[in-house]
Amino acid sequence: MAEVDYRKLEERLGRHHLEQRLRIQTHHVARLFGQGKVMIHLEHIRTLHKTIRGVLRAGGLYNRGRRNALAVRVHFNDLPCPDLPAAFDGFRILHISDPHIDGNPGLLEKLIQLVEPLEYDLCVITGDFREGTFEDYDTPALRMTQLAEHIKTDMYAILGNHDAIEMVPTLETGGIRILLNEHVMLESGGEKMVLAGVDDPHYYETDNLEKAFEGAPLNHFKLLLAHSPEICRKAAFAGVDLYLCGHTHAGQICLPGGHPLLTNCKCPRECHSGLWHFEEMIGYTSRGAGTSSVNVRFNCPPEITVHRLCRRT
Ligand SMILES: [Fe+2]
Repeated sequence: MAEVDYRKLEERLGRHHLEQRLRIQTHHVARLFGQGKVMIHLEHIRTLHKTIRGVLRAGGLYNRGRRNALAVRVHFNDLPCPDLPAAFDGFRILHISDPHIDGNPGLLEKLIQLVEPLEYDLCVITGDFREGTFEDYDTPALRMTQLAEHIKTDMYAILGNHDAIEMVPTLETGGIRILLNEHVMLESGGEKMVLAGVDDPHYYETDNLEKAFEGAPLNHFKLLLAHSPEICRKAAFAGVDLYLCGHTHAGQICLPGGHPLLTNCKCPRECHSGLWHFEEMIGYTSRGAGTSSVNVRFNCPPEITVHRLCRRT
């Protein structure tokens, strides 16, 4: 695997943040129970994944689930943001989440085909580039840079609970800037907004809103990228205007009508998928482009999203 300069990462993240990330990554005993916001992490149990695949094959459903998983749709979504600066009215954000790009043969090609004709002003990726949680990180990072070659604008992203900190240098060399409790200023027509991103709040719990907004002007519109919706309350009370996230896959395997069996997420139910509000803050949880654990979907189509920000309510 690619050699990583940990000193550079430490300079950027701080010693405590890097140590927390690395120690949790190597804390194998904690893979199944404990850590993070939920007690059991089903994404780490390979025997369970094998059993689910076996049951689906026996029931003749596996191939249909595989086809569903690759039937990614582009979802066009208007996001009404009353406090949006006028110059950002109509600003379009391509939002990709949870590609798990090395877990689904054919998905990279499908995503390239989908993004090629799209028009947008910015691209954001809300984490979970990788399928596994503790092995090869080079392959998914390199595949994401292949996708990045087809993106026409600046790209900003955050890490999810499947991603290793060691992926950051490769992703950034490929043009995907990772926001590790950091922010940048976006500019359009002479006006500005804050774009901040936090490290994974779900499993690593290395999110830090205070640090992410440190030095940002207080009176500007604030857009936050977080892997899961689990810090929506903290973000709303920190003055975030718009919160983009993923992680839940909206259930991935759902009952007819899109009712999820599991979402692996500790937050209000309405935040599990699509558009939601928390106090004054507006949020959107992507259904995700990929799959996790078992590469099938039922009653829950995968998506990439083009959000159009608008001032009207
Ligand atoms: Fe996730």
